[in-house]
Parts: sequence; structure tokens; C-alpha cells
Amino acid sequence: MARLKTAVLFSGRGSNLRALIAACAAPGFPAEIILAVSNQIGAPGLDYAAQAGIPARTVPHRDFKTREEFEQALDKILRASGVELICLAGFMRVLNKGFVEAWRGKLINIHPSLLPDFPGLDTHRRALEAHKSRAGCSVHFVSPEVDAGPLIVQASVPVLPGDDEHKLAARVLIAEHQAYPLALKLIAEGHVKLAGNQALIDGKPGPLQLNPAAT
Ligand code: GRF
Repeated sequence: MARLKTAVLFSGRGSNLRALIAACAAPGFPAEIILAVSNQIGAPGLDYAAQAGIPARTVPHRDFKTREEFEQALDKILRASGVELICLAGFMRVLNKGFVEAWRGKLINIHPSLLPDFPGLDTHRRALEAHKSRAGCSVHFVSPEVDAGPLIVQASVPVLPGDDEHKLAARVLIAEHQAYPLALKLIAEGHVKLAGNQALIDGKPGPLQLNPAAT
């Protein structure tokens, strides 16, 4: 069966890009990464794409006068490549409603909190300040409202005594690297449907909860 043609958009470190590349390299995985796009020149994640022989593009947002022009350029590149699904992985640009709606159901993101808790930035600090006993990550369809789209997969980890932001972030990141490939696999195999404001996984309301064995 044809593999789902996937693009990964990122801005920096690229560890989720790396995890998705690794997953796609496994025999029989139902998706392939055909394009990696960074909006930051020299983003470390570009090296992962190069090492894997994946075409990579840098589209610096600063080269465009408006957000719309930047997004039009992105859209053109993605469509020219025949991309069927876009994975945002640490892509630090908010996308306008026009782009989001044009790719509705084909645009997903990973966020480092158990949404609807802590949309936006500084999620780990805020989880610690709120004395949460668990933290985690969410893979969701992107909707025009930031970090609020239908949830596909969540993975949770414990918040442990002595945690600081960095320790918690590192624990959540391991969960991210499991949750994102799982979400990609579920979508590529046709298990996920977008029904209004909800993701259905094999007909059941999402998110699918993944609790890594290590926790
Ligand atoms: C991850 O924590 C992801 O959840 C968030 O941005 C971070 C990106 O990390 N959206 P990396 O670039 O994938 O290592």
C-alpha cells in the first residue's frame, strides 16, 4: 500500500522530526517523510533530514512582508511536493486561519502538555506551579485557535518530587517521541477521522491515551 506522504515543519532542535524519521524508517511503517521545512536558517533539525536523505527546505519567515505571504510560499512548496499530511514539530510560527482551513484534517501538531491544560508557552513551569501530579504531551489536529484542536493521542508521565522544568521537559520529551509516531501511524492507517470538533479513533472519541511503560 502507498505510504502517506508527510511533511514535517519545525524551527529548531528537531528531536520530534528525528523520532518521526526513525519511525518511518521501520519496515512496513505506513507513512514516509518526503519533505522537512524549517523557518529558521541553520536549525539543528536540518541535519537529521540531511542524514536521512530527506529533502529539506528553509523558508525564512523574515524574508516575507506578511504572515500571509510566508504561508503562501509554504503552501506552494507543500502542494508541489504532493504532501498529504503536515506534522508541526516545534514549528514556532502561528499559522493563520486561511492556511489552517486549507489543510483542515491534514495538519497536526504536538504540544508539550496534557491539553486543554496549558496551551501556549512555558508548559512545564506552569504544570509545576499548578502542582500537577502528571504532565505529558498531546498530538492534535490544528484548528485556528492555537493549541485547541481535536486531540488524537496523549501520553502522560508523572511529575516527580525534585522535578524542575528541565527534568520534567526531558521526561515529557521521551513521551513525545512515542506519541507523535503513534499518531502518524494511526492516521496513515486510516484509523483517525475528524468529525467536527472531535477526532475519532476507530470510531471512538479521542484522544487515545498512551502511557509509556517507563512511568
Ligand atoms: C516539543 O516539546 C514540542 O512539543 C513543542 O516544541 C518542542 C520541539 O522540540 N511543540 P523538538 O524541536 O522536536 O526537539
